[in-house]
Amino acid sequence: MARSKTKTAFVCSDCGAEHAKWQGQCSSCAEWNTLSRVSVGPVPEARVGFAGTTAQIQKLNEVKADEAERISTTLQELDRVLGGGLVPGSVVLMGGDPGAGKSTLLLQMCTQLARSRGVLYVTGEESLHQMASRARRLELPLDGLDVAAETRAEVIAGHIETHKPDVVVLDSVQVLQMDGIDSTPGSVTQVRETAAFFTRLAKQTNTVIVLVGHITKEGGLAGPKVLEHMIDCFMMLDSPAGSRYRTLRGQKNRFGAVNELGVFAMTDQGMKEVANPSAIFLQRGDLDSPGSVATVTWEGTRPLLVELQALVDAVAAGYPKRVAVGLDQQRLAMHLAVMHRHCGITLADQDVFANVVGGVRIQETGADLALLLAVLSSFRDRVLPRDLIVFGELGLTGELRPVANGQERLREAAKHGFKQAVVPYANRPKKPLPDMVVHGVKNLAGALEVLSRF
Ligand code: TYD
Ligand code: MG
Repeated sequence: MARSKTKTAFVCSDCGAEHAKWQGQCSSCAEWNTLSRVSVGPVPEARVGFAGTTAQIQKLNEVKADEAERISTTLQELDRVLGGGLVPGSVVLMGGDPGAGKSTLLLQMCTQLARSRGVLYVTGEESLHQMASRARRLELPLDGLDVAAETRAEVIAGHIETHKPDVVVLDSVQVLQMDGIDSTPGSVTQVRETAAFFTRLAKQTNTVIVLVGHITKEGGLAGPKVLEHMIDCFMMLDSPAGSRYRTLRGQKNRFGAVNELGVFAMTDQGMKEVANPSAIFLQRGDLDSPGSVATVTWEGTRPLLVELQALVDAVAAGYPKRVAVGLDQQRLAMHLAVMHRHCGITLADQDVFANVVGGVRIQETGADLALLLAVLSSFRDRVLPRDLIVFGELGLTGELRPVANGQERLREAAKHGFKQAVVPYANRPKKPLPDMVVHGVKNLAGALEVLSRF
């Protein structure tokens, strides 16, 4: 039977697009210098007529589909992001900057899990001695967890086949290598091939495989896009500069909601779960200052209270700046145009800076109104009431659109002591709330009118 030869292709480490020839810029995502050579194995020929080699066709309703059994990680925040725990036979990729705390978090998980399950932690980056001393310092239970310092994929697979663990952590995917692939560890080819190899192994042996990947927010080396179609669940551990809080966000999940947010604090005792994140992200000082507004966003399945800050200042030089940290910069520019067009307030000669306190990133539109009111509060140098909570999506015609889970957001705010709220008209509660005055407004002008009465 004729076999096609092994070919080479060029894959973008950022978006995963494949190109036949090398080029300086990826024509798919327009990133520069992200293409690298990969070997593409021979494509097996379709085997028509070979009985037994094809999978049987079944009716979908005859396929056995038990509600997938979940293995709890013993860490509630991690379980939340996973959608209820680890699913046997699945592959999870945990990405994050070096030093974010991936190894610490997974070591904590593994030592706890190993009390009731077979768990293997394979480290290719740290020595076993380093791992043991870290685990001792964190006072984790050491007995039960199997560890190995290994980077060869075939050897690790051998360990998995003999020891049959329920959960395997591979720290990290960048140091793994496979025989027969003449490419350095960490290169796109190696990462792709080893990840594919372990994905097959996970399905065959019904083992949970957790891959650790050093992935920067920009995508970095052998970015998640190269792996995304293979793995079942991808989560990013974010470590905002200078903050001891770490947020774990689900980016893809075949077994649960995406965009779930888990919050941890890196302490000298390892990663501690933060059960009530609203309380930490909303720690405001005693001083009331203009430019600060509290909002409540919806992260996955729960509300999160955060403080937005804005600073408006006369243009220092050149074009006016619009800088947003933790928020969408384009939306900020858009809202300023809406405010100009529909309320006649222009910031054309002002620089505008906006920030989410605590280093969380807001990925939904519910913070639109709060952002604009923070900007206005700074511009007018007027302090907004401390017990005011604001949310709502702003449309281009200046209308305020309702957001999902409005009632739960209001309840969360009331629980944290907020006494008044400005929200989209359609999000106002049907019955008055006992401890909170809620102003439902239909558009931006309406919101400004309410504020002028404070
Ligand atoms: P680590 O888990 O090694 O990060 P990663 O595997 O994502 O690269 O975490 C390393 C950082 O965490 C390091 O800067 C030190 C800090 N750290 C603490 O602050 N407290 C601790 O108890 C531990 C174990 C680490
Ligand atoms: Mg590490």
